[in-house]
Amino acid sequence: MSDTTTAEPRLQRPPAERRYADELAKLAAEDDAPRPPGWALSLQAARTFVVGDESRGITRKFVGDPSLIDRALVTLATNRGLMLVGEPGTAKSLLSELIAAAVSGDSTLTIQGGASTTEDQIAYSWNYSLLVSEGPTQRALVPAPLLQGMAEGRVVRFEEITRCPLEVQDSLLSPLSDRVLAVPELEGDSMVFAREGFNIIATANTRDRGVNEMSAALKRRFNFETVFPIADFDTELDLVEHEAANALARSGVPVPPSRDVLAVLVKVFRDLRSGDTQGRPQAVMSTAEAVSVAHAVGIKAWYLRGGEAEAGDIVDCMAGAAAKDSAEDLARLRRYLEQKAPQRKGPHWASLYQARNLLPG
Ligand SMILES: Nc1ncnc2c1ncn2[C@@H]1O[C@H](COP(=O)(O)OP(=O)(O)O)[C@@H](O)[C@H]1O
Ligand SMILES: [Mg+2]
Repeated sequence: MSDTTTAEPRLQRPPAERRYADELAKLAAEDDAPRPPGWALSLQAARTFVVGDESRGITRKFVGDPSLIDRALVTLATNRGLMLVGEPGTAKSLLSELIAAAVSGDSTLTIQGGASTTEDQIAYSWNYSLLVSEGPTQRALVPAPLLQGMAEGRVVRFEEITRCPLEVQDSLLSPLSDRVLAVPELEGDSMVFAREGFNIIATANTRDRGVNEMSAALKRRFNFETVFPIADFDTELDLVEHEAANALARSGVPVPPSRDVLAVLVKVFRDLRSGDTQGRPQAVMSTAEAVSVAHAVGIKAWYLRGGEAEAGDIVDCMAGAAAKDSAEDLARLRRYLEQKAPQRKGPHWASLYQARNLLPG
């Protein structure tokens, strides 16, 4: 299926292995380092895919400590799962997608954790009409990501695992420790044994019900890596600029906000995130949120005015992101705009200050 030969709209966000198919093919072709059994790339090539290498035409996709990527890949080549923990919006999901694409060539074996996640959605379920007509046969079995990943030797992603009920989380115990999953209903071959290449990358937000509640037995079967927010201002600004330009190009907007406007946006996010002036907002002022506000700012300027974004556009685009449904956060944002913005110099801060009345309420 090609995205260009049909008149259908483009996919909004194809999986990493399709977005970066050319890079993956190039890395595989040039890869002469040893690969762990069942892996599509060597550890070096997988790391290069994630952190990039300009000289080889591989883009940087994750900004952060390359040694984190090394440790993550080493873990995946062992018999332990990988648990990425951190604040929301620190690119845990992105990282797990990129790593799965590099290691298995497929990032789509994904379980989305939530309060109502069931074992059916994790391991397997049944095609009911076949179940009724022929009983619990292989044909009637409908594999979910875990079973499929084990049978095919691929990385399975488990998003937001700590949002699942504990007993559902614990269904990962024997796949992780014994590398086997029982399908007791099947006659004969009721055990599915994992092939080389299978492992699990789970993600967990520190703001959700904690990883502390996860059973000790399951915790032991994962290596934990913390993903931190981007520490350096310029690095974060570069990322927001780059991601916003990409997102806007996909949305048909030819003029992204200028770097000066984005610098104000990133500064506001960082000030609110650190909370040293106004108290920390409940909303997470993450880099991911900054990117989406930058996207909205560009859309607003182009589609509502046909022009370029101004710092003032940040204000109303931010209300929904920074305040969500918290009146307290909105008040905090208002105080910030009233007290902090006028202290800063330059036309963009002035424009931000001018726009403070656009805040709802
Ligand atoms: N360190 C980072 N490297 C690359 N992108 C980042 C980084 N931190 C935040 N982002 C931005 O955040 C988005 C991903 O957020 P996401 O993976 O959903 O975060 P999480 O799963 O931690 O909540 C990325 O698409 C990117 O725009
Ligand atoms: Mg996530």
